[in-house]
Amino acid sequence: MAIREILRMGDGRLLQVAQPVTKVPSALIDNLLTDMFDTMADADGVGLAAPQIGELLRVVVFGFDQNDRYPDELSVPKTVLINPQIEVIDSAEELDWEGCLSVPGMRGQVPRPRGIRYQGIDPAGIAIDRIVTGFHARVVLHECDHLDGVLYPQRIRDIRNFGFEDLVGN
Ligand code: NI
Repeated sequence: MAIREILRMGDGRLLQVAQPVTKVPSALIDNLLTDMFDTMADADGVGLAAPQIGELLRVVVFGFDQNDRYPDELSVPKTVLINPQIEVIDSAEELDWEGCLSVPGMRGQVPRPRGIRYQGIDPAGIAIDRIVTGFHARVVLHECDHLDGVLYPQRIRDIRNFGFEDLVGN
């Protein structure tokens, strides 16, 4: 159990494509997940991808009941998603504000599709298959982008809608 250092934008490891997990259950993955949840809670995040702590594996965690960083958003179930696959099922675009623990202090307005289906496995190897919309979909898309070396500022269409979190989005 450990709070790990969160890599910040500019670190080349955040630009790499992460590798699939080949075996679960696994003590290595369970230990990684403990660190990810500890790190996410310490930073008050709503999601974290393994590459953000320097582990280039296709593992994301997300979920919250109430979050001070996104006080207006509905809860998202606490989830571990391994080897995720995403299919867009409602491509209508929604623009909303995102932040990232790897881009501290900043927010940007990012276009995302409204509805997705996501699949993967949990740490026991049990299949996960959900259809979600809105902020839940946004969180999953954001976290899974990390697995392909994509940070949300790359997806901002109008860079004027990018700034310090105490100034934008209010
Ligand atoms: Ni992020």
